[in-house]
Amino acid sequence: MSAFFALESLTLHYGKTLAVDALSLRLEEGNTLALLGPSGCGKTTTMRAVAGLLKPSSGRVHLAGRDITALAANKREVGLVFQSYALFPHLSAWDNVAFGLQLRGVGAAELKQRVSEALAMVGLSELAARMPRELSGGQQQRVALARTVVVRPRLLLLDEPLSNLDTRLRLEMRSELKRLQRQLNITMVVVTHDQLEALALADTVAVMHAGQLAQLGTPQQVYTQPASEFVARFMGMDNVVAASALGLSSAKAFAWRPNAVVLGRGQHQGTVIGASYLGDAMELLIDSIFGPIKAQAAADAAWRVGQQIAFDLPLERGVALQA
Ligand SMILES: Nc1ncnc2c1ncn2[C@@H]1O[C@H](COP(=O)(O)OP(=O)(O)OP(=O)(O)O)[C@@H](O)[C@H]1O
Ligand SMILES: [Mg+2]
Repeated sequence: MSAFFALESLTLHYGKTLAVDALSLRLEEGNTLALLGPSGCGKTTTMRAVAGLLKPSSGRVHLAGRDITALAANKREVGLVFQSYALFPHLSAWDNVAFGLQLRGVGAAELKQRVSEALAMVGLSELAARMPRELSGGQQQRVALARTVVVRPRLLLLDEPLSNLDTRLRLEMRSELKRLQRQLNITMVVVTHDQLEALALADTVAVMHAGQLAQLGTPQQVYTQPASEFVARFMGMDNVVAASALGLSSAKAFAWRPNAVVLGRGQHQGTVIGASYLGDAMELLIDSIFGPIKAQAAADAAWRVGQQIAFDLPLERGVALQA
């Protein structure tokens, strides 16, 4: 059976530059896909192609049982909140959100209700009369989100929707977005460079690397069973050691998160070359025969730069990498 939303070998070029390289993925209705990857890996380009703003060099886009590859942007029922969420500068927050509904000829009473709901969802009911220039960056970003959600697109594309918010508001908006997505059964693709945000929001995570799909899986799969060194490092396993350096042959390499490194005992020796206080913990950088090892120590640990330190990389706390 075909998925609600699918990309089939989607490929895009800017001139001769290959930006998206044979990207294939699928998403069921009502689910959220997080598109994750470093800057320049092709996330925005992919979103723009799905929204119909860029023409692919090859490949197909399917939505709700139709091939929409050649369909005009305004016929797709795809809502895109841009990374640079251009609001209409001459319209108030309220009118920005109401605009799409007016365009669709929604009646006055329903319009009023839907716009107030959408503004309440993003916590901006009080500021509905403000013009975009009278709003902070984070508030503008929330208006942009409300403006897109209010028209109930079949597919909602969000490009870094929470990037301009402070940490507290970001967490609040993240759970609010997730609640709304579930309540309205929205099918959603969210672009983020924040790994934890991707894990929190998504049913499926797609990690991209240089235009290609590096891994597609559940948040748990991508976090605990990265398919390659690239994905492992991207998901926070800073310590990747070649199997040969460990005298092992069961995999190509092994990877450990900083908090999986055992400190103060073990068969390896190193020198502390960095110690940063993180609040809940201390992060140590250790120079060793494996190269620099990043480890997490207790916040009140007494390790100091220049000290010799014993450490261990227990296999049962690491991940074997085959690629
Ligand atoms: N208009 C353009 N003309 C030429 N090259 C472009 C254009 N837009 C993007 N690119 C290139 O295409 C590649 C993918 O860009 P894209 O904007 O999709 O990256 P991204 O994953 O969204 O990155 P970021 O996380 O920084 O937003 C990059 O190498 C970028 O330099
Ligand atoms: Mg981008």
